[in-house]
Amino acid sequence: MRAIVVRKFGDPVELAEMPVPEPGAQAVKVQLDAAGVNPFDLKMAKGILEGKLPHDFPAILGVDGAGSVAAVGPDVTKFAVGDRVVGKFLVPPAGHGSFAEYSVLPQDATLVAIPESITNLAAAALPTAGVTAQDLVDAAQIRPGHTVLIVGATGGVGSFLVQLANIAGAHVIATARGDTADRMTRLGAAETVDYSRAPVADSVRFTHPGGVDVLFDLVSPPEALAPLTELVREGGAVYSIVFSADEAALRERGLRGGNFESKGRAPELARLLARVAAGDVVVPIDATVPLEEAPAVLGAAGARGKTVLAI
Ligand SMILES: NC(=O)c1ccc[n+]([C@@H]2O[C@H](COP(=O)([O-])OP(=O)(O)OC[C@H]3O[C@@H](n4cnc5c(N)ncnc54)[C@H](OP(=O)(O)O)[C@@H]3O)[C@@H](O)[C@H]2O)c1
Repeated sequence: MRAIVVRKFGDPVELAEMPVPEPGAQAVKVQLDAAGVNPFDLKMAKGILEGKLPHDFPAILGVDGAGSVAAVGPDVTKFAVGDRVVGKFLVPPAGHGSFAEYSVLPQDATLVAIPESITNLAAAALPTAGVTAQDLVDAAQIRPGHTVLIVGATGGVGSFLVQLANIAGAHVIATARGDTADRMTRLGAAETVDYSRAPVADSVRFTHPGGVDVLFDLVSPPEALAPLTELVREGGAVYSIVFSADEAALRERGLRGGNFESKGRAPELARLLARVAAGDVVVPIDATVPLEEAPAVLGAAGARGKTVLAI
């Protein structure tokens, strides 16, 4: 089968011919139609999980994927051949990901049925970015009327987060460079700030001298996050999904939150799918490219929503 692999950490990402996997007793074999691209995929290729998870090489990349069940192990009770499913194709040993024609997952992994009204392409965009955004809104306990600043709003996580924070009743301020402001407004941002024109902290302090209730930072390194946290009122919350928060400093200032890692489990993915099926959340797909083009799109800068590979 065709797959996108690295032969060792740090090697070039390439298209390769790999054996078709077969499911064990408790596992499900999925014929993948679509795979969502995330910044994490390239980080994994470079070895971010080295020493944390065992890997098989050549390692097939990709976490998010959607398709149809092609075979099930004898002890599988939750899925049947032909079911459309979406999941996170990252279980130990790593290296059997979703950038391939087939992959195998235990039935108890993050794998859920896709509602009829959602395409496999749209479903594949949800597991990492969408569920992270939903988990962030849940963790922050956003209430109607809260002012929420989202830094890095234009990418995969941000394009879901703007919508979900808006649905929760927040007044959303989203960072957006150049002509992406309109897109953020359509997704639910009440205001946008162009971080390339002036420091975000200065712009937001000017329009909101009383500060904001919640800061979701999806991109800033520690030195850039620190001045932004000054905007958050006492009792508010700061979340960094790139591990830039100084949690002790946040506590000293009476702020909640800190560094945040999405669990990305099946019930949360099923809840997000239901919200998409109900028409409450749109799936912000920016580009659909063939599997073969994965090496060119992995790690590309300037994301505008999600890129999905068509397999
Ligand atoms: N901890 C977790 O559980 C978790 C979960 C998911 C993702 N992540 C991580 O979170 C990060 C974001 O993920 P993603 O999928 O949203 O990435 P993405 O799709 O690449 O989006 C990042 C966005 O940020 C914008 N950006 C870059 N620099 C910026 C700046 N200084 N200020 C404001 N915006 C800026 C980019 O556009 P422009 O450059 O054009 O502005 C782009 O639209 C990645 O590092 C990812 O690995 C962590």
